[in-house]
Amino acid sequence: MNVIRTFEDYQHHYQKSIEHPENFWSDVAHGFTWRKKWDKVLEWDFNKPSVKWFIGGKLNITENCLDRHLTNHANRTAIIWEPNNPDEDARHITYQQLFEEVCKTANMLKAQGVKKGDRVCIYLPMIPELAYAVLACARIGAVHSVVFAGFSAKSIADRINDAGCNVVVTSDGAYRGDKTINLKKIIDEAVQHCPSVSKVIVKEYIKSGAPLTPGRDVWWHDEIAKVSADCPAEEMDAEDLLFILYTSGSTGKPKGMVHTCGGYMVYTNYTFRTTFQYQEGQVYWCTADIGWVTGHSYILYGPLSAGATTVMFEGVPSWPNPGRFWQVIDRHKVNIFYTAPTAIRSLQQAPLEFVEKYDLSSLRVLGSVGEPINEEAWHWYDKNIGKGQCAIVDTWWQTETGGFMIAPIARVTPLKPAYATLPLPGVQPAVMNEGGLEVNGNNVEGRLTIKFPWPGMARTIYGDHQRFKDTYFSTFPGKYFTGDGCKRDEDGYYRITGRVDDIIIVSGHNLGTAEIESAVDEHPLVTETAVVGYPHDIKGQAVYAFVICYEKPKDEEKLRGEIRDTVSRIIGPIAKPDKIQFVSGLPKTRSGKIMRRILRKVAEGDVSNLGDTTTLLDPAVVDEIKAGAL
Ligand code: WT7
Repeated sequence: MNVIRTFEDYQHHYQKSIEHPENFWSDVAHGFTWRKKWDKVLEWDFNKPSVKWFIGGKLNITENCLDRHLTNHANRTAIIWEPNNPDEDARHITYQQLFEEVCKTANMLKAQGVKKGDRVCIYLPMIPELAYAVLACARIGAVHSVVFAGFSAKSIADRINDAGCNVVVTSDGAYRGDKTINLKKIIDEAVQHCPSVSKVIVKEYIKSGAPLTPGRDVWWHDEIAKVSADCPAEEMDAEDLLFILYTSGSTGKPKGMVHTCGGYMVYTNYTFRTTFQYQEGQVYWCTADIGWVTGHSYILYGPLSAGATTVMFEGVPSWPNPGRFWQVIDRHKVNIFYTAPTAIRSLQQAPLEFVEKYDLSSLRVLGSVGEPINEEAWHWYDKNIGKGQCAIVDTWWQTETGGFMIAPIARVTPLKPAYATLPLPGVQPAVMNEGGLEVNGNNVEGRLTIKFPWPGMARTIYGDHQRFKDTYFSTFPGKYFTGDGCKRDEDGYYRITGRVDDIIIVSGHNLGTAEIESAVDEHPLVTETAVVGYPHDIKGQAVYAFVICYEKPKDEEKLRGEIRDTVSRIIGPIAKPDKIQFVSGLPKTRSGKIMRRILRKVAEGDVSNLGDTTTLLDPAVVDEIKAGAL
């Protein structure tokens, strides 16, 4: 593959990638194990939309993540598993061991009836079995749908039903800091509403005494004991489905983003190696959960396909104390560390002794993802964690993009705090104005779109191609619309300014306001709800709910607690509103549309200039809302 060592290399490669994209990506793709090479690099039409990469190519992504490393690096550590409890030992899983575990798990899935093309729901904590299960699906051509182990029974059931999963893989529980969570109980509740599920495989982990439903549930340890460690990889077409991963949408229903085998493999590997400038032998740690795309692309597929050593951390940053991340870096001599601004901001609050206790001199590259990183957090990270010696890569991308899009190349791209900097070679952004025209040149601001396909992009929304088109390819015809706003400064550097749609990003988690609104509405006393985001020091954004009740609440605090519990039950604790204001009406236009612009201002605490309110049906509600603002 093309090597980028200097900024001139970057500019040169970028230029080539724009002038001859197919040659560029074909060069990158030659560095993998294919059963059969592709006949054609790319076919695309953003109006349909239809995108296909490496057409006719045959492969299995696990041969690239596992088999091909066995010849020379069988005993290299693939995964360092760091448990929740710091007093327990970490585990080093070599490529050989990972290969065997994945093959066994794959055979176990087959024995439970999983076939190529079937969808498998994985609901597991951050334990090695999660990695085994994901890769085992890929090995046999089953489509994995990982659901983050913090989602509620209802959210899981919706996702299982949307994808029509026939098998669920879970555990009898999870540790999270000083808490335990009974995942099996949540799955039992979910699966009651999922007629497609015939088998539930349960990993015994916390020994919660979870009962098995006869005929449906089996223990992982019983079934894995019955199978061999020999499992040839299924030959997949480059455009066959690899996985589905759900992300929040502007309307209530989550969107099952579909990623395919060939393009996703090429893209995650390329972006991992390019952005982090990964060197053989380095230890790399991404603190995300595999339940999110960051974990899929940058704990598993990207690093493993590159033969890297990747840390998988079960715990949380704050337990047993806010030094935990720094302890893990010291313990495993981590060279590349990748986390989220929300984690940085919360750890920044703790006394510096929690950082200074540990030797962080192994660090070379620090990464950030999930939301815009504010300058203060950027500088704190640079100074206290990187000791001014590390490259900081602020990576902008999305579940939909599969991998990094706009990000610095470590030690190559000159940095600017709070800027995602420049597009990677192969990525063609375009900034659009509200009139729908591309704005050229620098020092401009607008909506961020991408005008040419890249191999890692999602191909559709599972079961709803029309929604894929409407959401991403209709606002600016012929372009992929990201939903983000951005600035391009005088040097052509990009700064992402945040979502311009009804999605809010809370502690790096993407939440749809519509989904939270309908969850709040489930409370029997609630008539109608409007949810907006507001700036929060640690979470980046937090959730503010304006709620109309059937009658004036007697005990507002108690009702707030009940509403939070309702949201927690329906979506998960991450979506709980931080502030709940009871109102008698919402600012609506004559056509019945809620004017969220006004609510956002109130939630931000900026009521001095609410803009034009003359088109409101009942302008008086605004005064009441202003007066009651929290
Ligand atoms: C949205 C995508 C990509 C993995 C994690 C989130 C925001 C993400 C950055 C960044 C500014 C960022 C955007 C994007 N976002 N990274 N470095 N700077 N904003 O994936 O849940 O699909 O969310 O996260 O708003 O659209 P996701």
